[in-house]
Amino acid sequence: MKPRSKPDEDEADFFPCPPRKNWSVGLIKFISFLVIFMAGVVIGLSASGRFTRSFNSQTEIFFPSTMYMANCDKEFLSFKSFVTPEHLMHSMTDEELFWRASMVPKMEEYPFQRVPKVAFMFMTRGPLPFVQLWDRFFKGHEGLYSVYVHTLPDYKLNVSESSAFYSRQIPSEEVSWGSVTLVDAEKRLLANALLDFSNERFVLLSESCIPVYDFSTVYNYLVYSAHSFVESYDEISQQGRGRYNRRMAPTIKLYHWRKGSQWFELNRELAAYIVADYQYYLIFRKYCKPSCYPDEHYMPTYLNMFHGSLNSNRTVTWVDWSRGGPHPAAYGASSITLEFIQSIRNNGTTCTYNSKPTSVCFLFARKFSPNALGPLLNLSSRAMGF
Ligand SMILES: *[C@@H]1O[C@H](CO)[C@@H](O)[C@H](O)[C@H]1NC(C)=O
Ligand SMILES: *[C@@H]1O[C@H](CO)[C@@H](O)[C@H](O)[C@H]1NC(C)=O
Ligand SMILES: *[C@@H]1O[C@H](CO)[C@@H](O)[C@H](O)[C@H]1NC(C)=O
Ligand SMILES: *[C@@H]1O[C@H](CO)[C@@H](O)[C@H](O)[C@H]1NC(C)=O
Repeated sequence: MKPRSKPDEDEADFFPCPPRKNWSVGLIKFISFLVIFMAGVVIGLSASGRFTRSFNSQTEIFFPSTMYMANCDKEFLSFKSFVTPEHLMHSMTDEELFWRASMVPKMEEYPFQRVPKVAFMFMTRGPLPFVQLWDRFFKGHEGLYSVYVHTLPDYKLNVSESSAFYSRQIPSEEVSWGSVTLVDAEKRLLANALLDFSNERFVLLSESCIPVYDFSTVYNYLVYSAHSFVESYDEISQQGRGRYNRRMAPTIKLYHWRKGSQWFELNRELAAYIVADYQYYLIFRKYCKPSCYPDEHYMPTYLNMFHGSLNSNRTVTWVDWSRGGPHPAAYGASSITLEFIQSIRNNGTTCTYNSKPTSVCFLFARKFSPNALGPLLNLSSRAMGF
């Protein structure tokens, strides 16, 4: 993996404590000043004959015992910032990040009140046209979700401070669609989200995704699900098994090979397995080359091989492939009606949820064009309950 260059200037924004070197220079100056000052005090006090009586209390005044415990150092090691990192920016390489994120506590109980959160992980090249709709969706549910955004490396997301997306960009890398760099970005999102120990469910979304239910419905559906939602099926055709490369054997055999939408939902346990895996990831990186699309096969195949019983094998993100071709249908302003949204929420088919049938199959939908925002905001409370 390519080590990320360390942006020293950027870091300054996120670590507001003065660098140690300046701090110690300042301390030396301060101590020199104190020594001279104390010498003056001692001379003055001994001259007045009260030196021995007041020496101890003077020491306390000039050298309070906590003075050298710089607040910065305490903050870096605080428990709170370990379990819930406040700043998303860091200078870890992917290798360092994945290693750290793959750590799983051995103790079952948490030494803090852990309220499970859903991590909403957005993968976009840049703008997020539906920020306003998502903010409406998140409103009033603070503490139950966290947002992560992977963009092009230099893109600066411009949202207001009150937005759930404010300051939620993670250190990102270039992504070319259809290549393994897309899987890298997915793992990067997962790893950054895993650093927050309260995140329990991890949803991958794109800039063209919208929620089709209100927050509480989505939250309860995911948090109380016994299964994760990673589409995984055996596609016999050229677009499925046809993409398998014999050189993946014997580690990955043709009968292991699966296909599925890249828009996954994982629980914490599976997210940690994915971030920790190099063995299978490396085989995909080596042999799943153009017109193979690693993002459509890596997780479906890997989960099928090792964690099938934890997977529902279906996706919770609706998309319309009915028009055929390499890209799904995109819906703009003129398509947005109450009936259309209702047909996504419930199209008459049933799905299995915790081994029982349900009419709620999809929580999110794609693809929507930016001009759909106005009409969606117009009917979100009637159609989607928020
Ligand atoms: C960010 O958005 C605000 C409000 O939409 C706009 O006024 C401002 O010019 C934008 N800043 C940049 C750098 O694009
Ligand atoms: C999903 O597929 C796996 C095989 O990969 C299977 O073991 C599991 O039972 C399936 N899950 C459900 C909910 O049917
Ligand atoms: C409902 O949606 C599913 C999944 O997209 C699709 O397979 C099915 O054909 C749809 N049913 C109707 C009646 O449109
Ligand atoms: C919102 O709805 C109102 C009335 O229902 C309509 O007049 C208006 O054009 C709609 N706005 C958008 C952006 O669709």
